[in-house]
Amino acid sequence: VTTSDDAKRAAARAAAELVENGMTVGLGTGSTVAHLLPALAERGLEIRCVATSNATEKQALELGIPVEPFAELDRLDIAIDGADQIAPDGWLVKGGGGAHTREKVVAAAAERFVVIADESKLVGHIAPPIPLELLAYGLRATLRGLGEARVREGAPPSPDGGVIADFIGAVDNPAELAKRLADTAGVVDHGLFAAELVSEAYIGRADGSVERLTF
Ligand code: 5RP
Repeated sequence: VTTSDDAKRAAARAAAELVENGMTVGLGTGSTVAHLLPALAERGLEIRCVATSNATEKQALELGIPVEPFAELDRLDIAIDGADQIAPDGWLVKGGGGAHTREKVVAAAAERFVVIADESKLVGHIAPPIPLELLAYGLRATLRGLGEARVREGAPPSPDGGVIADFIGAVDNPAELAKRLADTAGVVDHGLFAAELVSEAYIGRADGSVERLTF
């Protein structure tokens, strides 16, 4: 067990306490969320959940947490997910696991979007790589349009069939870059999450302490 694992677990367990009986819950993806699911299962709540990846869905079902397709619910009470970078103003980079498109849909649908992470994810400034999901159709042309971007080696397609890639150019202004990426034809979605989406972040430390940041 690494210290970063202890830190992730501490953040995940603190966030699990935010979930209440009867809530609709969005479950993120990654190694920090992998600690959230057992903590949630232990609470034995009656909740309705959607999952942002097949891996999360599988782990949740194994733990007895019900997961339903995200087609019928039109909003969520809470979503809890990890992040690759957390800037001081609340902007995030997500998609290290290639799940950012679904993660953004879930975060945007949630009344409260809670980020869980160890302190290594706190950054002074957002930096590349910025994860991308691209349509396979016209892939080379989309990459050309993006300029500094490359397909992520060894990454499986997203659950929706998209190609996982990364933007590797400079990030001067995350809001401007987010708009440019979103405006590029062939980009399904990118891993920049605006601070407006984020309610709070629980940052775990190896000693088991957890700091709550609001933006
Ligand atoms: C997956 C994600 C993850 O939330 C992000 O990569 C953080 O992962 P981890 O909790 O394993 O550090 O965005 O697409």
